[in-house]
Amino acid sequence: MTDPLGVCLVGAGRAGFVHASNLRHHTAGAEPVAIVDGDLERARAVAAAVGGAPFATLEEAIAGARVDAVVIATPTFAHRDLAVEALGAGLHVLCEKPMALSARECDDMIAAADEAGRVLQIGYVRRFQPEFVEAHARIEAGEIGDVMLVKSLTRGPGLPPPWAHDLALSNGMLAEVNSHCFDSVRWMAGADIVRVYAEVANRKGARLGVTAERFYDNAIVSLRFANDAIGSIDGVCPAGYGYDARMEVIGTEGLIMIGDVNGMPLITAVDRDRGGVRPTHKTWPERFSWGYVREIGAFVEAARTGAEPAVGGLDGKRAVEAVVAANRSWQEGRPVELTEAAV
Ligand SMILES: NC(=O)c1ccc[n+]([C@@H]2O[C@H](COP(=O)([O-])OP(=O)(O)OC[C@H]3O[C@@H](n4cnc5c(N)ncnc54)[C@H](O)[C@@H]3O)[C@@H](O)[C@H]2O)c1
Repeated sequence: MTDPLGVCLVGAGRAGFVHASNLRHHTAGAEPVAIVDGDLERARAVAAAVGGAPFATLEEAIAGARVDAVVIATPTFAHRDLAVEALGAGLHVLCEKPMALSARECDDMIAAADEAGRVLQIGYVRRFQPEFVEAHARIEAGEIGDVMLVKSLTRGPGLPPPWAHDLALSNGMLAEVNSHCFDSVRWMAGADIVRVYAEVANRKGARLGVTAERFYDNAIVSLRFANDAIGSIDGVCPAGYGYDARMEVIGTEGLIMIGDVNGMPLITAVDRDRGGVRPTHKTWPERFSWGYVREIGAFVEAARTGAEPAVGGLDGKRAVEAVVAANRSWQEGRPVELTEAAV
């Protein structure tokens, strides 16, 4: 293919804008040709910023623009239908995490990709973030021996959008915030999660006016993997102190720590009694800025060459299964085997 890959963005919200702007400014061999949002004003605003024509539906974009590939950045409840529609039209798909709401929806997406022979990549940006990639390579090379224990945390500022308060539309914070953790621990452990036990709490919701039933803003999950490694995931959102994403992987021969609370390499010190102050990472687009650029670059490369994406439908499905099992765990007050969440 010599023409640039024509990319249609569906969902011109927070994540959509990051992808659209990286496509326009930091990705070779591709260009935004269509921006779709049910709210046409949003589509118009992003199209004005990055190029491409605005549309209200994917169907109109496919009919009206030269689309080769689709980036889906809508709320989770819309992922399956949009991905199946795009793949059915012979288009490559990069779908934001979480892949979908259930393993069954993931299966529909995987089947559509297989049938079309098109790329289906899932938006697990940490797979492309340099320090995570380096840690994984060192683990694979045996630097810390056999992985015994994996910990991952994600805490973020700001209340998520209203649809993400509703467990039925989003699977809640464990999906919206921590699905990155579920994917990363499985990647670093080199094995599937087989059992989870989750505790959650709602500590700030009422104060922030959240009325959704079953809303939670704190969670911790114990994990067991198929290779007998154990681990944990925790999440807090909103956490006003910054965007915090860190991991620890402990092997038989040593420890790898990934990430830092501190963002900028800048320390201010004005008072010897208080010492120095260093800012935290403020937002996810800033914390993972390299990862987002590399993620969309890898998708364009896979779409242009037909290569297997670095993180595909099965990876997305495994994270969805773990989230569904964890939500069942805290609601039923018991450990849940992943085989119970297989549909
Ligand atoms: N990778 C990351 O770090 C990261 C960060 C934030 C969000 N996300 C993911 O991105 C997705 C979107 O999240 P967001 O925070 O950007 O949401 P958002 O609410 O900011 O934006 C979603 C947009 O999609 C539009 N939309 C909804 N349904 C649609 C449909 N059927 N067709 C066309 N447009 C539709 C809405 O009008 C809205 O503009 C979610 O899956 C979320 O988990 C990923």
